[in-house]
Amino acid sequence: MAKALAQFSCTACGAVHRKWAGRCDACGAWNSIIEDVPITPGPGVRPGKGRRIALSTLATTEPPPPRKGSGFAELDRVLGGGLVAASAILVGGDPGIGKSTLLLQAVSAFARKGLKCIYVSGEEAAAQVRLRAHRLGLQEAPVQLAAETHLRDIIATIEAETPDLVVIDSIQTMWLDTVESAPGSVAQVRATAHELVSFAKRRGLAVILVGHVTKEGQIAGPRVVEHMVDTVLYFEGERGHQFRILRAVKNRFGPADEIGVFEMTGTGLAEVVNPSALFLSERGAPAPGSVVFAGIEGTRPVLTEIQALVASSTLGTPRRTVVGLDSARLSTILAVLEARCGIPFAGMDVFLNVAGGLRVAEPAADLAVACALLSSREHIALPSDLVVFGEISLSGALRPVSQTENRLKEAQKLGFCRAIAPRLAKPAALPGIELHQMPDLTEVVGRFFGAG
Ligand code: TYD
Ligand code: MG
Repeated sequence: MAKALAQFSCTACGAVHRKWAGRCDACGAWNSIIEDVPITPGPGVRPGKGRRIALSTLATTEPPPPRKGSGFAELDRVLGGGLVAASAILVGGDPGIGKSTLLLQAVSAFARKGLKCIYVSGEEAAAQVRLRAHRLGLQEAPVQLAAETHLRDIIATIEAETPDLVVIDSIQTMWLDTVESAPGSVAQVRATAHELVSFAKRRGLAVILVGHVTKEGQIAGPRVVEHMVDTVLYFEGERGHQFRILRAVKNRFGPADEIGVFEMTGTGLAEVVNPSALFLSERGAPAPGSVVFAGIEGTRPVLTEIQALVASSTLGTPRRTVVGLDSARLSTILAVLEARCGIPFAGMDVFLNVAGGLRVAEPAADLAVACALLSSREHIALPSDLVVFGEISLSGALRPVSQTENRLKEAQKLGFCRAIAPRLAKPAALPGIELHQMPDLTEVVGRFFGAG
């Protein structure tokens, strides 16, 4: 057998190198490259034959894992109904978005439901956490608190205390003495997260890890922790807005893509029971460029306002500014409007925004975006009791989207009585909603924007 080549890897970013170097080409860190030592059996140890493992069938008689609700309904919804024992959850988000606030409220809620909870802060002193708890009115919650970053001590404490839930805020501050690099480096984050997750699985407790998102939008550089945990939640929101969205991007115990909506108030995060009403609350009188999109987030319908501003540009390359939507999707819609409907946007700046700080990823928003663009460009305000949804294909045809009925029902609940939607094979009808089923974009332009 050929001798294995020595391999080196960077402890800061995980990049693999053929040779040792003082500086990592991939991340620019100095003195971070170490040789990966292959694991070889010690002297006198001969690799033995494997043991035969027992196989089983897929049929199960076990009941589904019991869940513990916090009573904090928006949080329980995102978790898929509550906390599962022996599970690991990662909560990621920008610094300052409110992760510590959310978790202090969550851990207090679980503690009040009878779970034994430990909150470990690696970022703030115990007095600071206590001060925050006071401000949130949680000083009486039976939560045990520690300010510590040395993981070995934390694990020893958990082992002795046997809690049901441990919150680690944040994983980037934790360190193990067996790993040489600094806290927050990929090697430390990987090692400490692995240690905590495997401990939680072994002992049957639930662990919640807080992770800061780096500039590139990933938790601790390469997504080192995401694959280790059962559930990944992101806490999102625009700084200037009080709305915060907790989104499940991975969940082994429930539906992914589910969202919980919160409002940041002077006394912590408050649940938002009716997100659609909240997202539409800032809407003024009907104005060109404003369209209400009937979307689906996770398992529930959510209405949001999509705003566009199209103005003639003085720049050689006109501006395309997008907040809350995918900018590639905007380019596609502009190209379709130009090529299929003959409406040019060259020489015009385009600004697009989802009101309230929600991020919309659904292709069903295409038609609402197109209508907002047309409405602003043509200075035609759409009726204020109209909702829009539908996917646009490159040919300009409208594709039906899922859950038409749920979208319409939510619109009706909020007092809307008209909708523009793609044509369905089986026409949907809802009393009280005037449904315009359109085959393609050209017809939408002709019907609502008096051109095309
Ligand atoms: P924090 O939970 O510390 O954020 P993270 O842990 O994600 O870094 O939240 C910090 C922000 O939240 C801070 O700017 C102040 C604001 N905040 C409130 O508006 N109301 C409150 O009751 C609390 C505790 C914080
Ligand atoms: Mg924090």
